[in-house]
Amino acid sequence: MSGEELRRSFIKFFQNKDHLHLPSAGLIPDDPSTLFTSAGMQPFVPFFTGTRTTPHTRIVTSQKCCRADDVDEVGNTWRHLTFFEMLGNFSFGDYFKKGAIEHAWEFLVDVLNLSTERLWISIYKEDDDAFHIWHEEIGISAEKIVRLGKNDNWWGPVGNSGPCGPDTEIHWDRGTKHGCEDPDCRPGCERNGCNRWGELWNLVFQQFDQQPDGSLKQLPSPGIDTGMGLERLAAAIQGEGLSVFDTDLFIPIIDHIQKLTIESDTEYKKNEKTETAIRIIADHARAAAFLIGDGVVPSNEGRGYVLRRFLRRAYRFGMTLGFTAPFLHRLTSSVTSVMRGSYPELAENGDVISQTIKREEERFGETLERGMSLFERIVDHTHRDGENVINARDVFTLYDTYGFPFELTQELATERGLSVDAVGFETAMTSQRDRARAGSGFRTATANVFSDIAATEFIGYKTARAEATILAVRDVDNHLWVVLNRTPFYAEAGGQIGDVGQMVSDQLNVQVIDTQWHGDAIAHKVEIKDGMMAEGTGVQLNVDMESRNAICRAHTATHLLHSALREVLGTHIFQSGSLVEPDRLRFDFSHPQPVRLTEIIEIEQLINKNILASLHVDWETKSIEQAREMGAMALFGEKYGDNVRVVQIPGVSIELCGGTHLENTAGTGSLKIISETSVGANLRRIDALTGLSALNWTNQRLQTLDDATHEIGSSVDQFPDSLKQLIANQRDVERKLRDLEARTSATQLEDLIQNATAVKGIKVVTGMVTSASASVLRQLADETITKLPSGIVVLGSVENGKVALVTKVSDDAQQRGGHAGNLIREVAKVTGGGGGGRPDFAQAGGRDPSKLNEALAKVRELLEQQLKERSA
Ligand code: SER
Repeated sequence: MSGEELRRSFIKFFQNKDHLHLPSAGLIPDDPSTLFTSAGMQPFVPFFTGTRTTPHTRIVTSQKCCRADDVDEVGNTWRHLTFFEMLGNFSFGDYFKKGAIEHAWEFLVDVLNLSTERLWISIYKEDDDAFHIWHEEIGISAEKIVRLGKNDNWWGPVGNSGPCGPDTEIHWDRGTKHGCEDPDCRPGCERNGCNRWGELWNLVFQQFDQQPDGSLKQLPSPGIDTGMGLERLAAAIQGEGLSVFDTDLFIPIIDHIQKLTIESDTEYKKNEKTETAIRIIADHARAAAFLIGDGVVPSNEGRGYVLRRFLRRAYRFGMTLGFTAPFLHRLTSSVTSVMRGSYPELAENGDVISQTIKREEERFGETLERGMSLFERIVDHTHRDGENVINARDVFTLYDTYGFPFELTQELATERGLSVDAVGFETAMTSQRDRARAGSGFRTATANVFSDIAATEFIGYKTARAEATILAVRDVDNHLWVVLNRTPFYAEAGGQIGDVGQMVSDQLNVQVIDTQWHGDAIAHKVEIKDGMMAEGTGVQLNVDMESRNAICRAHTATHLLHSALREVLGTHIFQSGSLVEPDRLRFDFSHPQPVRLTEIIEIEQLINKNILASLHVDWETKSIEQAREMGAMALFGEKYGDNVRVVQIPGVSIELCGGTHLENTAGTGSLKIISETSVGANLRRIDALTGLSALNWTNQRLQTLDDATHEIGSSVDQFPDSLKQLIANQRDVERKLRDLEARTSATQLEDLIQNATAVKGIKVVTGMVTSASASVLRQLADETITKLPSGIVVLGSVENGKVALVTKVSDDAQQRGGHAGNLIREVAKVTGGGGGGRPDFAQAGGRDPSKLNEALAKVRELLEQQLKERSA
């Protein structure tokens, strides 16, 4: 079974057991204490803790996960990956231990046919219930159920608080040859690098809510959280003793790396070290593609820092294979083609992903060049000082300022007979990591070039005009960006695009064409019309109100749409993305089937009723707890601070939202849904218009309808009937035409047969049929030979400027040397074409219709040569 099939069969299995399939949440989690989504249950923490109502008590997902902490293990073991997919089934107050164990066993044994001999179990040492279920109900012998401690069979929480509980793991016996050979070797064995046991599936009995002080509270909604690495499962299924890299999820990427080495003429020696390098590159290429796909960009802090580390690490391992120029970005195509079945959006973003990787590779290439001269100086002074260890400060400078991965410095040092202070470097790294965690800003969409500038005060909820002072003007990717001490310009976030407008003073006239977050600074992308920008000068800022108002209309309408979707389609609807532009919105959401037209109409009606009801829109800042108590909807993949903005349309919607809104729903004017499409498995997209755009769109459609009715001489009211009549007439004419053609052909056929001549005693019919397609021509040739019935038929026609030729030769004519294929080949040549075929039947095409007569005239001459005389 391929990885894709495994993923699909897992989801189907649990869907058949009444689980709701939800799409994978993003890699950027809700929870501010973690950098990445690292487990399938993470998006569902609020369902376990009861702070949000679950759309269903049973859910199944295949979740994208990133575990950056495993980076050093990747390539050295059969199972570690920084990016992987976790298959999981979840129960929220529904089934518990028995259900979870029975489902898991049924899937592995009955659906995947894994050998029960090779499946072993571990449980938490005090969990007699789990022992009982495995032993008594499933029938696993007691020796194959291992009781382990908290390190092995207790899971959670993610971060320092949240859901946790005892778990049971299903282990795959990879064979004694991978193990320590100790007779007591059991799951959990760590002797001599024992590699025998593959933890396949972890079934967590989520029972407790760990408090920040470490104490355990009972969860309001105990349930089940299971996680099975798709890649590990594929390794167990696809062959004996395989590693995750030997599965179909990796082979195309690894093949691609090898192909690139051949194309780049790099020579590398195949050995354990280069094999590991290839695996690391393959893993990092996948992780980088998914991280960038989810909006992470390489930078020096937070998530961007992790991404940068992966990219530079892959680049460095590429160097050990002999690559001297950027190569990693080229792997994006194989990553996306392996994953496109389940993550079509990855392929759609393929260009952006590959460009981002390429830029980082180029930057690192330059960095390496610059860093090497510093490295040489460090080596010199280390030797001069009589030391044989490069001190931690130098290693860290090379790492932090010049982007030298530690291992690179270490390897280069070894070549010069030096070692490095690894412990000191680790200490420096720990504080760096802490800094990175503290500073992880999810809004950073571009490398943060304004990190030295104080956070901008956003005053745009209250006003659209303000005076402010320019703090910095910088060039980012060939565009000028300006940061001020405060601004009414809204920076793109939460799907709402950035504001546009003007920045003016006596000496200055500047157009603001976009606004974006750069870390905590709000940066304005500008085009200078007149004057010069200088830091420290004051300017008047004017947001373009026409655009801002249109954006507000679309944003308030987005909230109305979200609530209408939940009301009409059900509460399983979750927003998975949105785009809010002037009077235009796009809304992506989870839903297992296309929305029916009747539902669309109902949704549109409901929204427009709420617009007409002229409802007041409230917004206020609340603590996250207060917001939760109010039942505000938060989004997967969005991160919220301690205080959040709650936007409320009383009785209709309450959402956490930082966007700008109307004060009253009536300002939307109207909303028109213009399309409903699929954007992935169980993901739908609605596009809609508001304000005058909705009216204009409708008018344009009406105009098209008017034009069409006018064209057929009808009126809008009569249009359906007139159109039906027109189609009926058309069919009638077509039928008459076909009859006429058939009659004409029959007449032509009679004429042709009448005019048949003989060559060496064999009847030969040649002729041109007016505008017949190749298939009509074939039919005519068939009829002619049936009527003859002994002889040779060659027919030609011209249709759409192309020549078609068909030949039929009766059996007795074949015995006399007649051969349809040979004959037609020569005839077709005259018309500039070619063809051939069997002795009894052949067809050909030609390019020059003016030569068709000449070609047909040649038939007799050719047959004179080809046919044998009748034997006496
Ligand atoms: N939360 C558990 C894990 O990540 C099971 O899903 O392993």
